[in-house]
Amino acid sequence: MGRPHPGVDRGVVIVGSGMAGAQTAMALRRRKYPGTVTLVGAEAELPYQRPPLSKEYLKGSLEDGGLLLRPAQFWAEHEIELVADVEAVRIDRMAQHITLSDGRKLPYAHLVLALGAENRSLPGVPVPRGVLGLRTIGDARALRARLQHGRELVIVGGGFIGMEVAAAARERGARVTIIEAMDRIMARVLSEEMSQYFSDRHREQGVQILTACEVARFSGDRHVTGVELADGSQLPADTVLIGIGVSPNTELADACGLEVAGGIVVGADLLTADRCISAIGDCALFPDPVSGASHRLESIQNATDQAQQVAKRLTGDGAGYDAVPWFWSNQYDLKLQIAGVAPSGGQSLVRGDPAQGSFSVCRFDGDRLAAIESVNRPADHIAARKLIGTEAARRLSRDQLADPTVPLRSLVLSPVA
Ligand code: APR
Repeated sequence: MGRPHPGVDRGVVIVGSGMAGAQTAMALRRRKYPGTVTLVGAEAELPYQRPPLSKEYLKGSLEDGGLLLRPAQFWAEHEIELVADVEAVRIDRMAQHITLSDGRKLPYAHLVLALGAENRSLPGVPVPRGVLGLRTIGDARALRARLQHGRELVIVGGGFIGMEVAAAARERGARVTIIEAMDRIMARVLSEEMSQYFSDRHREQGVQILTACEVARFSGDRHVTGVELADGSQLPADTVLIGIGVSPNTELADACGLEVAGGIVVGADLLTADRCISAIGDCALFPDPVSGASHRLESIQNATDQAQQVAKRLTGDGAGYDAVPWFWSNQYDLKLQIAGVAPSGGQSLVRGDPAQGSFSVCRFDGDRLAAIESVNRPADHIAARKLIGTEAARRLSRDQLADPTVPLRSLVLSPVA
């Protein structure tokens, strides 16, 4: 179509080909952005979806092809230049170009940093070569190959990755032990009630969950043979996975003088202090329109919505970012959906009956309804996404919220104080 050649003419360069980066490129083309769009990614694969890596892909109900975000020809057809298997190593803000690990330079009119996050490494313990992590498709292949009947899997970290892998591994017949440092699983995001519910379901499925527990050492090297805990007890293992959270990739921004504070600092417009550079997705620290505090979110919804927002701004339609965050997790037949972000230690109430396998936990920040966690109650989740962040969320009747026969959607329009 005669667009200028990437790398010669300045257009949008996006660093990071995960969900946030790929969605930015796609949204720019959907919105008829006229210039070049270049997507730089460290992985060799075409852009793919990560959420199934700890779920369907591990269970074997989804194969590599099903992970692709778009078929191979899509990117060329839409004139999105994929620069794969190479890293951006430097940003020159004066010259407005980035330098790649193979020495190439790419000039930009606008640079989008969608750098994602990397898995945290276990502090204070030497980690043998055979210990696995889970972030990329390659990691998932290695783990999947080891999830066979009778295998002894030890997972360090009872967060979302750990518990999703535990469920998939049990379904494949492996024995599973979770080692969690906190006193409950998935505590970073979930209420105590919901942590307890998921602990109970995992234990029913035969998962051994050890909380307030830390690893002292591993035995073995390429082939791990066991784990010793801080209290001296020994666990047999033939596969060990570490899933103890992530840290945002911020070095590139830091090195070129952009503000970094546990994430690349951006305003409500998702721009850094350099008006030619945006940051989005897992790596971006942005102001929460409801609480006013800055936060960083690790979710597909956040990556996708922020990508749309940046593409809108770059095509002349700029409003602030104010989407309600939402998340999900599938473990066994449980569909967990979360809308909003709640502070830890706030009040909560349960709606519905956990024993029936269908209930929600409403969580508060003072008087404000801040988040709703739902298990197998999709209507609550959909209504929560409309309710949270509105004025109505500050003056809801707790009796009505707790009554599962009152549809939440009715409170969206007519909250009762
Ligand atoms: N030993 C044991 N457990 C630990 C340790 C440790 N040294 N350090 C941290 N943990 C625990 C945390 O208490 C937490 O429960 O590991 C868990 C990490 O959970 P998450 O923060 O949810 O991170 P993870 O499960 O690794 O997921 C990483 O992938 O699916 C996404 O949303 C997810 O963005 C997140 C990312």
